[in-house]
Amino acid sequence: MNELTRPPIDVRFEGLSAPVDSRFAGMTFPAYRHFLDFEPVRRHPQAPNTPLVMPVALGAFVTGEPVALALAEIREGQTSNAEMLSLFVVPAYRRRGLGTALLNSMGAFLSRMGVEKAMGVYMTGQPGQEAVERVLEKAGWSKPEIRQLTLRCTLEEARRLDWYGKYALEEGYSVFPWKDLTETDREALKESQRVTGWIKPDLEPWKHDAEGFEPVSSLGIRLHGELVGWIINHALDERVVRFTCSFIRRDLGRRGKIVPVYTESIRRLSESTGFVEATFTVPIRHRGMSNFVLRRSAPFLSFSFLGETRGTTKILTR
Ligand SMILES: CC(C)(COP(=O)(O)OP(=O)(O)OC[C@H]1O[C@@H](n2cnc3c(N)ncnc32)[C@H](O)[C@@H]1OP(=O)(O)O)[C@@H](O)C(=O)NCCC(=O)NCCS
Repeated sequence: MNELTRPPIDVRFEGLSAPVDSRFAGMTFPAYRHFLDFEPVRRHPQAPNTPLVMPVALGAFVTGEPVALALAEIREGQTSNAEMLSLFVVPAYRRRGLGTALLNSMGAFLSRMGVEKAMGVYMTGQPGQEAVERVLEKAGWSKPEIRQLTLRCTLEEARRLDWYGKYALEEGYSVFPWKDLTETDREALKESQRVTGWIKPDLEPWKHDAEGFEPVSSLGIRLHGELVGWIINHALDERVVRFTCSFIRRDLGRRGKIVPVYTESIRRLSESTGFVEATFTVPIRHRGMSNFVLRRSAPFLSFSFLGETRGTTKILTR
């Protein structure tokens, strides 16, 4: 039977609560399986200072059997927004409109809970990208926009990149573990940002370290003692570390000066931690860094992954 002659499915959607049928666990990413306990949780439990979120899940059943799952989260204190985390239909029921119907039902379900705007972020370069983009389009979500470049590779590969170890820190520069930043330094930095606005707002370190950071490889950069930059990283799990935020004062010729600090950060990860992979995320609007990833790094990695995250939103109407 081809998909055109498939009969319509008699499907039932149901808001899920604990305990759920264990088959639903296989319908979302491993990192989100703890959401199916329906307790207020943190997205990454190993990052204790991240905000608590409330999981919301809608399951689809055909003759009592679970066949699809939509999973979302609502952040504590931000109940008019929700983020879709995953959408999954078992292969036997795909291409019959189920994914779209489930996403639409999830929108209505969230709207009844008071959510006004839903957003979603997904990674390109994965199987199923065409299907998910088509489903978003059919369900009336906004045209996906590139948010970030993501490069993933082993630390061993990173150490073979041509820039690794090639440039030394120039005279006057020094690095220190970000965990050693004093409160006085931090207050002085905030004050200088308030007065002169020299840091790109999305790279302000307090937006990235407030919820915890990887202590060995997150580094501050000083020039003649003055704090001029930072690399702030996060553990995603016990194997993978994410280079989340890196910044150096604009007038210092950014990339040239920060590359040796990347080397130092990767070296410390390799020598003093058990991490084996690194993910670099770069907001696409930071052209210098995006080019560094696209031109100086990605082409030279044989077993790496390069993708974009794309974001999409939908205003929910009651
Ligand atoms: C994405 C997913 C949920 C869609 O479920 P579904 O029930 O097949 O969705 P629908 O039937 O409503 O719509 C699928 C659309 O994608 C299209 N599509 C599917 N595979 C495609 C492909 N490889 N290339 C282009 N279009 C494709 C279908 O033709 C259909 O569009 P149409 O109605 O215009 O023909 C399902 O494929 C899935 O579970 N994939 C694995 C998990 C995943 O990738 N989830 C998304 C990220 S969390």
